Amino acid sequence: MLIGKSSDIPSSAITPQDQYLNRRRFLRGAVSGVVAAGAGALGAERLAEVFEPRIGALAGTKLETVKSPLTTTGEDLTSLNDLTHYNNFYEFGVQKNEPAENAGALPTRPWTVRVDGKVKSPKTFDIEALLKLRPLEDRVYRHRCVEAWSMVIPWVGYSLSEFINQCEPLSTAKYVQFLSYYDKKVEKWGSETSISWPYSEGLRMDEAMHPLALLTFGLYGEVLPNQNGAPVRIVAPWKYGFKSAKSIVAVRFVDKMPPTTWNDQAPREYGFYSNVNPSVDHPRWSQKTERRIGLPFYAQRKTTLLFNGYGEQVASLYNGMDLKRNF
Ligand code: MTE
Repeated sequence: MLIGKSSDIPSSAITPQDQYLNRRRFLRGAVSGVVAAGAGALGAERLAEVFEPRIGALAGTKLETVKSPLTTTGEDLTSLNDLTHYNNFYEFGVQKNEPAENAGALPTRPWTVRVDGKVKSPKTFDIEALLKLRPLEDRVYRHRCVEAWSMVIPWVGYSLSEFINQCEPLSTAKYVQFLSYYDKKVEKWGSETSISWPYSEGLRMDEAMHPLALLTFGLYGEVLPNQNGAPVRIVAPWKYGFKSAKSIVAVRFVDKMPPTTWNDQAPREYGFYSNVNPSVDHPRWSQKTERRIGLPFYAQRKTTLLFNGYGEQVASLYNGMDLKRNF
């Protein structure tokens, strides 16, 4: 993404804007250092009191799952350790290791998802009801980040379409927007960036209704770790990872293409569709290959596949569209 340096991105590609953001980050860091020193004086127990009931309260909770015909097999899974320590979750810091360190503060219960916009009537779903809406499936998907790294992840969830049907969208709903939780007191790292929060992403309705699009509650058979987007996130495996909003609290059905976080940051770099496409390079780096996280050095480099290898299932969604223009 724009900030947070991936080793895949040559330093020559880092723009003055990155330097600006890093400088802001440094300045904020200096200020928060003062705050932290003050907190130390207040006593660590006080901070523990504030955060302890929330930290990983559900971490490790097993989910009952069934096998899924939509799983992808044959490739080695990325280890749980890599999945949970190499994350993008900018509300909790811009470095890959920071979400693991900071996302413990995310309060994942109680949790509701508000549905509004072009629907029969607005509704609010409690997370416990969402967990029971449909049998939870184990689905292994490839996960390709726009920064040219990839993973293979055993997610737990059910097709997003099952949830959308419960939302009763009107025929005038052409897109669906997902908004992530944002509280600047909890996610203070978010204000070190120039992103206007909450994180927003969207899909065209037919994309969202595609059975591969997953409403995701877990990975490796357990509830999502906070840094992976607990308690509920989107996964669209044929798209770059940033289309998959984490920790969603609102779903809005709209008639026009909704504003999305990375498109808003740099429209030339991050299109609305963001389908994985090795023949459309990012303006600052190639998308022809990817680095598979966790593999030995000599085996990391892989050829990137159109639609991340899910072309047979999803290509027809884009019939007649110029994928270079609609990147
Ligand atoms: N959702 C929110 N709320 N905030 C984020 O910063 N990052 C996106 C996406 N969803 C992000 C987000 C990006 S850039 C990627 S690649 C994936 O989450 C990363 O998901 P992972 O850390 O679980 O691999």
